[in-house]
Amino acid sequence: MYKPDKVWNRFAKRYEKSPVSNEAAYREKLKITRTYFTPESEVLEFGCGTGTTAVSHAPFVKHIDAIDVSSKMLDFARGKADAAEVSNITFVCADIEKYAERGIVYDVIMGHSILHLLEDKEAVIATVYDILKPGGVFVSSTVCIGGSNPVMKAALAIGRSLGLLPLVRFFTPEELAKSLTDAGFTIEQEWLPENSDAVFIVARK
Ligand SMILES: C[S@@+](CC[C@H](N)C(=O)[O-])C[C@H]1O[C@@H](n2cnc3c(N)ncnc32)[C@H](O)[C@@H]1O
Repeated sequence: MYKPDKVWNRFAKRYEKSPVSNEAAYREKLKITRTYFTPESEVLEFGCGTGTTAVSHAPFVKHIDAIDVSSKMLDFARGKADAAEVSNITFVCADIEKYAERGIVYDVIMGHSILHLLEDKEAVIATVYDILKPGGVFVSSTVCIGGSNPVMKAALAIGRSLGLLPLVRFFTPEELAKSLTDAGFTIEQEWLPENSDAVFIVARK
């Protein structure tokens, strides 16, 4: 059985050291996201990884719950928050679906570089919808590699079966947008930066 926590614990150190792939696009995504924040915003980030995005947004909101299945990723994230003297993030080691059972609701939910890594993204999108307040927004950046070559798919499948690589799902930006609207969201912004596979979407409940 696929265990994302094990795979991501193994990747944590390398992930922390790897640079952001498109710095200008990343900064623009941060800027757009902040237009949806107020000083009273209660925010959830799932799959927060090593915490770069949560720590960067923390000064602009009331509180962020930043969750991840990987305890090792969270170790880096906590260290980053401490170094930045950020005290309004609560880090929780949890799977998004399990975490949602706590019944906490949010103004903004972020899920970056994660929707293509889930067993069942439709179920997670439905969960995100449930735990957003009415009018709340879901902000995501997702690698969409639908239609990619069969050799890459086969290599990823072998790597996953050996427990060496994470599960990767293949879908297009259009398919992702449809998953969101099928769940009840209205797409408010959609942006595919030049030379990038990662589509940035802001979807409102
Ligand atoms: C590619 S990393 C992205 C990290 C960060 N969001 C970023 O943009 O750099 C994916 C992260 O999602 C986490 N993850 C995978 N499945 C998850 C799940 N079901 N619930 C919560 N976190 C999950 C992994 O542990 C990993 O840290």
